[in-house]
Amino acid sequence: MELEGLSAVILAAGKGTRMRSRFNKVLHPVLGEPMIFHSLRAVTGLGIPPERTVIVVGHGADEVRRVVAERGPYLFAEQTEQLGTGHALAMAAPALESLPPGEAEQILVFYGDCPLYQPSTLARLVQTHLVQSPLLTLATAFVADPTGYGRIVRASDTQAFQAIIEEVDLLPAQKTIKESNVGLYLYRAKWLWPALKRLRPSPKGEFYLTDLAAFAAENELGVATLEVEAQESLSINDRVQLAQVSALLRQRILRHWMLAGVTLTDPASTFISAASQIEPDTLIEPNTHLRGACRIGPDCVIGPNTLLTDATLGAGCQIIASVIENSTLEAGVKVGPFSRVRPGSYLEENVRLGNFAEVSRSRIGAGSRQGHFSFIGDATLGPDVNIGAGTITANYDGVDKHKTQIGAHAFIGSDTILRAPISLGDYARTGAGSVVTRNVEEGVTVVGLPARPIKRRTQAARPAAGAENQNEAAGSGGVGDDTKHHPPQGQFGTDDSEG
Ligand code: UD1
Ligand code: CA
Repeated sequence: MELEGLSAVILAAGKGTRMRSRFNKVLHPVLGEPMIFHSLRAVTGLGIPPERTVIVVGHGADEVRRVVAERGPYLFAEQTEQLGTGHALAMAAPALESLPPGEAEQILVFYGDCPLYQPSTLARLVQTHLVQSPLLTLATAFVADPTGYGRIVRASDTQAFQAIIEEVDLLPAQKTIKESNVGLYLYRAKWLWPALKRLRPSPKGEFYLTDLAAFAAENELGVATLEVEAQESLSINDRVQLAQVSALLRQRILRHWMLAGVTLTDPASTFISAASQIEPDTLIEPNTHLRGACRIGPDCVIGPNTLLTDATLGAGCQIIASVIENSTLEAGVKVGPFSRVRPGSYLEENVRLGNFAEVSRSRIGAGSRQGHFSFIGDATLGPDVNIGAGTITANYDGVDKHKTQIGAHAFIGSDTILRAPISLGDYARTGAGSVVTRNVEEGVTVVGLPARPIKRRTQAARPAAGAENQNEAAGSGGVGDDTKHHPPQGQFGTDDSEG
């Protein structure tokens, strides 16, 4: 059975005074993403699309709109004066009432400072509402220290729900009540919108959303309550709570992945964002951070000391002490230690990036190797290319970025500078210290500054990879040394052997 016509409102207009910040509270990062993104995820997880979700903005409205709009076509309502949570919800009425008939019959409402709601809890709220069919279903929790929460007042005889009383209005006898208002509500729209008009301001001029519950309790359809875990009711009002809630959310995520088959050598130093996904039998070593939305395949070993942001890794990748951002690595890629893959890069199967390798906006063909302190930017490399130590693509002329193309099986000697735009054909080779300023044809070797073609003893035959060069950072075909004494071919560049 499904609840028809479900829409949502998230209240996020308040200043969040206790944060002592110039930014709206809901934009503060929780596990690397704005607090409100956790709420948005909870709502979409329930099957409510952005087109039926209203965010009430006020304090820092433009910034909140901009950040939330990145996540989808959300609806916004503006509360220009922060006159309380009840007033804030009333601001959402026009947006929801103008949706096509039937789309906003039931309204889920919660606060943007509570990132701990689980999809299963929201689903239980919906089920309770569906089964009991009241005007309002609300979540309550028994909180050890309920200071700051609205308290649930029940009839002493029947235990029937009567009202939510805010902390400031509690009578002395009510202060011992532990059952607290979580701040998770599901209303019938037909009742909700007119009822909001009946709210009266508190002595401080605030319209409390919580006062609605007492109105609903007076009606024979009444209020249903759902008890949830105390932890889920935690909200963020100051930076101490920001740290506490972040820690809880982090523990929950780590636990989830461990139970799903991922080994975390040291959970205490592992950070996994809420939007990341990891396949079983991947091992995560200490001090590793997965940020943004990472997709990690099975059987990978990640870390120690690694930072992945929006990275996609195929099966069996190994990343040590490296940084990878917004890039895709196919199966079997090895990176590190101390390498950086910058946004927009794509490493095909079994690519190897060694120590101090940097790749930016480039595609590297299967099995290619970039062993030692080198930079490849705006480049496309074919398969089985060897990039010698100290090689760089000089892709930037101070104004524009230019492209480099390197064909399959090319062998780039140590300390080569490839001045882009430039293209090297399949099996092309460069001597150590070459400064390559003109395109190199297939199978041609160039050396010197500027690099010129030389005849090689065995132009056509390509030496087997690996057999090439035992000599790390070798290469005697030096700068300017283009025709006089050709170095034997085995002395160009470096291979990828770790030595
Ligand atoms: C609120 C509840 C309290 C509950 C607690 C649970 C009310 C009156 N009280 O208290 O019963 O136990 O949450 O966490 O609702 N906001 C607006 N406009 C405003 C005021 C607030 O949009 O004029 C938004 C804020 O941005 C925030 C949310 O509403 O995201 C909650 O406001 P907050 O001041 O934190 O309420 P609490 O005092 O925590
Ligand atoms: Ca709060």
